[in-house]
Amino acid sequence: MSFFDPHILPSDITPKAVFENRRNLIKAAAAGSFGMALAPWFSRQALAASPEKLAATLNAAYATKEELTPYKYVTGYNNFYEFGTDKADPAAYAESLQTRPWTVSIEGLVKKPMTLDIDALLKLAPMEERIYRMRCVEGWSMVIPWDGYSLSKLISKVEPLGSAKFVEFISLADRKQMPGIKSNIIDWPYREGLRMDEAMNPLTLLTFGLYGEVLPKQNGAPVRIVVPWKYGFKSAKSIVKIRFTEEMPKTSWSQFDAREYGFYSNVNPQVDHPRWSQASERRIGDAKGAFAPKIKTQMFNGYGDQVASLYSGMDLKKFY
Ligand code: MTE
Repeated sequence: MSFFDPHILPSDITPKAVFENRRNLIKAAAAGSFGMALAPWFSRQALAASPEKLAATLNAAYATKEELTPYKYVTGYNNFYEFGTDKADPAAYAESLQTRPWTVSIEGLVKKPMTLDIDALLKLAPMEERIYRMRCVEGWSMVIPWDGYSLSKLISKVEPLGSAKFVEFISLADRKQMPGIKSNIIDWPYREGLRMDEAMNPLTLLTFGLYGEVLPKQNGAPVRIVVPWKYGFKSAKSIVKIRFTEEMPKTSWSQFDAREYGFYSNVNPQVDHPRWSQASERRIGDAKGAFAPKIKTQMFNGYGDQVASLYSGMDLKKFY
């Protein structure tokens, strides 16, 4: 299954020459001459930019200086299983997602449960741009300018009870809008969760946009979570519910296989996935072809200064 095989890359199934010269690739794509040899995420209509701008101010305290992953990869090479399991599927099929009207209900162990319209949620706090490294469990990574604000700002509005220990994020699951829901790979809806202190950490971003524009649908419009020190699957897309619980919530991937996907899923080069190493990653970008050579993965994806203290005293091999 594509999600689980980090070893088969488009560069492996595409003639090497195609990757060596981007200009030729684009020309060839325009002429339609590559047929099936072309990486699937290039050959489809993947790259329709959303024109709607978001006014966000760059927060330099949360902005890695690394080279940004080009927009076309950020929006053309995605995991969003509600639209299919191929990396090109979300860009090809997510157009059917209706992002208005959209509400997010915040419920469970809080003093002030509320259902917020997406446009009210957008205005709840000043919009910031944060440039985060993102590491997928499959072994690739990107550097993405996200637009949003710390989830903690929303959490403080609803006033969690002392008994609230975890936060659960639930994505939309609508068969009519999401063709991937017919597959039973995941027990829909997609669910993810964080411990309360992780959710309150200022790095955890309630995200509405990227590259200064509203989120393209394939990236989880109209609102998603971004948790940059954890593997990408913790960052649930197109969320409709945020629930505060006492018990650790069951999450989609740990339900799929608890041995392979733990609740914490902190990026950790020392803990291998049972079927592959997590010590290195490929940074997706076009400087050296579609996939750059492997680089070393950093503990907590390089965010140790901000988050290592959350896990002091925990055995991260056991709580993976
Ligand atoms: N959220 C939902 N609802 N469904 C998904 O399939 N995939 C996850 C995560 N959030 C997923 C999801 C995975 S595996 C990754 S790597 C990131 O979204 C990818 O986000 P991106 O496409 O914006 O890079």
